[in-house]
Amino acid sequence: GAPVEVDIGGMKPGELKRVEWRGKPVWVVRRTEEMLATLEKTEPKVADPDSQRTAYPTPDYAKNQYRSIKPEYLVVVGICSHLGCSPVEKFNAEGDPSLPGDWEGGFLCPCHGSTFDLAGRVFKNKPAPDNLEVPPHMYLSDSRILIG
Ligand code: FES
Repeated sequence: GAPVEVDIGGMKPGELKRVEWRGKPVWVVRRTEEMLATLEKTEPKVADPDSQRTAYPTPDYAKNQYRSIKPEYLVVVGICSHLGCSPVEKFNAEGDPSLPGDWEGGFLCPCHGSTFDLAGRVFKNKPAPDNLEVPPHMYLSDSRILIG
């Protein structure tokens, strides 16, 4: 599959953009300062905070708390590492009884209830064995990312 170029220039804080790469959904999320601040709180609750697992090896440049090159932009494949369903973004828990009351925002897989934080890190004791995959990517400029 060919690499995919994504224009992130016009993205608003808190926005999620969907693109397709090699037939897979890839999400780019422009995280706000508030969203980034949640990652410190979720750190002790996620199964693999440093992305050491290898089902979907995380590129070295994303082996950090943000799982990204620039903290502001998350780039992940939107496929659950359990049985391949597509999680949905749940940036707040309002009106959603399937999420814990202290939900900090992230992603929920509707198939078997795996939850992921705003860096795509899977929470402990969930069926998904790994974090969401970070695809290989690089910045062509401040406003363009190349995935693949
Ligand atoms: Fe996502 Fe099972 S496929 S929890």
